[in-house]
Amino acid sequence: ISFNSARFLISASRLDECLPDHGAEVAFAGRSNAGKSSALNAITANGKLARTSKTPGRTRLINFFSLNRENARLVDLPGYGYAKVSRDMKDDWQQHLGHYLNDRRCLRGLVLVMDIRHPLTEFDQMMVEWCEHNQLPLMILATKADKLKFGQAKTSMLEIAKKLKDYQCVEHLIMFSSTAKRGVDDCRQALANWLDA
Ligand code: GTP
Ligand code: MG
Repeated sequence: ISFNSARFLISASRLDECLPDHGAEVAFAGRSNAGKSSALNAITANGKLARTSKTPGRTRLINFFSLNRENARLVDLPGYGYAKVSRDMKDDWQQHLGHYLNDRRCLRGLVLVMDIRHPLTEFDQMMVEWCEHNQLPLMILATKADKLKFGQAKTSMLEIAKKLKDYQCVEHLIMFSSTAKRGVDDCRQALANWLDA
């Protein structure tokens, strides 16, 4: 499988607008502004694929991207924790996200994107618990590693690894940077394994 020819397919705001539940999908989740869309663009070597923004809450829909193999897709999920939307809208998002995560049978794994400087927020931990409970393979991208000195980044990675050592679901923990293209190859390899299985 190759990631370089990824294309945007559709956006869905609700589960019943999603593509048919066939094939294999890997979804990117994480806090708003963590760098999910940027990570997707780094992985697909297409800076214009998923829209990124300095303003949190850029991605408001579930966005589907096709890969070169039929029925293999990457999914950009709306971020969690964006304060500037109304309570109702927040509940709405979380509900749709919950539906997607709980009901999507073609979901092969979850990529949890977190800022290496602010790892394992309350929501991140919830996602880890959710994966553990549902036996869904989890890959953690500790991104924006370019913002730290290598030693600091390494220390943060060790701390994350320690906190997650008892979770079976965590298959990959990768130091990542979309700007410096760090960890991209490791991430692609892991994704290919999940999507091919
Ligand atoms: P939402 O769609 O709002 O949930 O955000 P997101 O998680 O998709 O974040 P996005 O990819 O839009 O990135 C948010 C901001 O962080 C943008 O200003 C990016 O340029 C920046 N950013 C993302 N990844 C990196 C990285 O690896 N290094 C640095 N230095 N900045 C990054
Ligand atoms: Mg986004």
